[in-house]
Amino acid sequence: MEKIGLFYSFNTKNTSAAAKAIQEELKGQVDLVNVEEADEEDFNRFENFILGVPTWWDGELPNYWDEFLPCLDSKSLEGKTFAIYGAGDQKAYPDNFVDAIGLMANFVESNGGKVIGAVPNEGYTFDASQALKDGQFVGLPLDFENQGDLLESRISNWVKKLKKDFK
Ligand SMILES: Cc1cc2nc3c(=O)[nH]c(=O)nc-3n(C[C@H](O)[C@H](O)[C@H](O)COP(=O)(O)O)c2cc1C
Repeated sequence: MEKIGLFYSFNTKNTSAAAKAIQEELKGQVDLVNVEEADEEDFNRFENFILGVPTWWDGELPNYWDEFLPCLDSKSLEGKTFAIYGAGDQKAYPDNFVDAIGLMANFVESNGGKVIGAVPNEGYTFDASQALKDGQFVGLPLDFENQGDLLESRISNWVKKLKKDFK
């Protein structure tokens, strides 16, 4: 498996905690990159990516992701593989649960990238999510506020699957 670039904001609390847990599961196979300081060259170093995206502002990506995405050339994602995880709160935001995962997956796919790491929606309670496609989440939802006891097993199971699916 080629090295994975794990892009997320180092200034987050929950997304950073998840990144550390993912890194632990993928010992030596992952480089952590602060998306708030990243440029296109950082992106071009990798073929495999994990992107950490909390949902903010009632169903949106945080500003730093919105600022970063336009600097990627529309061809630069072709041939690359992406897995996405996202922190969200299904109780407080049941109509926009982890929407950012879906927004990011759409961005990746519309620019030629491949998204892996879909997760069944069982075990979550919410009304609507832009991260759902064909009854599955297109990435891994992590609910630190309401399901803290499930974080470890969800991350561990997801990473096991990714190890098989990344090139
Ligand atoms: C202002 C605000 C808006 C939020 N909007 C959403 C939302 O639309 N959907 C969702 O699932 N979670 C939402 N959340 C919950 C956060 O995504 C959740 O607390 C997450 O764990 C934060 O991760 P972080 O510590 O990495 O920023 C919101 C939280 C805040 C403070």
